[in-house]
Amino acid sequence: MTTTAGSTVAGPSPAGRLTIDGLGKHYSGDVFAMRGATLDVAPGEAVAVVGASGCGKSTLLRLVAGFESPTEGRVLLDGRPVTGPGPDRGVVFQDYGLFPWLTVRENIAYGIRRRGVGRREALGQAAEHAETVGLGRFVDAYPHALSGGMQQRVGIARVLALHPSVLLMDEPLGALDALTRRQMQDELVAIRQRVSTTVVLVTHSIDEAVYLADRVVVMSGGAAHGVPGHVRDVVPVDLGDQRDTASPEFRAIAQHIGHHVHTPVRDGEIAA
Ligand SMILES: Nc1ncnc2c1ncn2[C@@H]1O[C@H](COP(=O)(O)OP(=O)(O)O)[C@@H](O)[C@H]1O
Ligand SMILES: [Mg+2]
Repeated sequence: MTTTAGSTVAGPSPAGRLTIDGLGKHYSGDVFAMRGATLDVAPGEAVAVVGASGCGKSTLLRLVAGFESPTEGRVLLDGRPVTGPGPDRGVVFQDYGLFPWLTVRENIAYGIRRRGVGRREALGQAAEHAETVGLGRFVDAYPHALSGGMQQRVGIARVLALHPSVLLMDEPLGALDALTRRQMQDELVAIRQRVSTTVVLVTHSIDEAVYLADRVVVMSGGAAHGVPGHVRDVVPVDLGDQRDTASPEFRAIAQHIGHHVHTPVRDGEIAA
């Protein structure tokens, strides 16, 4: 943290290198929600996590967020063990959780103010973050006057305003209709061009994962299958910045991932 003009603002974020090392979570019974997950995410990289319902995607995200503790393995952020939630990891959920009685600008400023920043300064920073998510013209609007996609952009701005080094998103576009969802995917691409935060995005849409991520983590298994949720494959998406969901290259990667998502767990797939 540094102090400028009498108010406290966040200093430069750490790099955002995420190390997931043999991570496992056991709740009860004889099956782990997740086991043996290992993954390195480079600073500024965007990783998407896909897989059938119940395979442990949200569990993985909650462990990285520090909302829960692993029963095996560990998570490191820039080399330091994660032991609980922290401002270095911003989390966006499917429901926006905005305060209906506060404007866009005030919603974003809320978290900034809680860090000890004065009202005026916080509102100024909030307006900049509204700009980052393309809502510069709507700073004085109330949530009820915004579409679902715009509300989720406020949710994202509110998290980015705390300068996390990692942005964790669990089905952030899951509540949106198909058309709005497509528009928001482009908005997420634009936001990524403006902020260098490391991203971990959980989604059940394979196309969304291939459209947005540098690499796609395919998870498989889960209690319903009688085996631990686990990382089955990590697929690089070498498609550059301009991605066309209809191009043969895009379809080939999506098909490869779809095959992994839908193939039943094989004998011997899980070592543990
Ligand atoms: N708090 C909990 N207590 C017991 N079991 C849980 C809990 N949270 C998740 N699970 C189980 O862990 C498995 C993985 O869940 P989850 O990570 O939510 O999957 P996903 O997000 O991929 O749908 C599921 O079988 C789920 O029922
Ligand atoms: Mg989930």
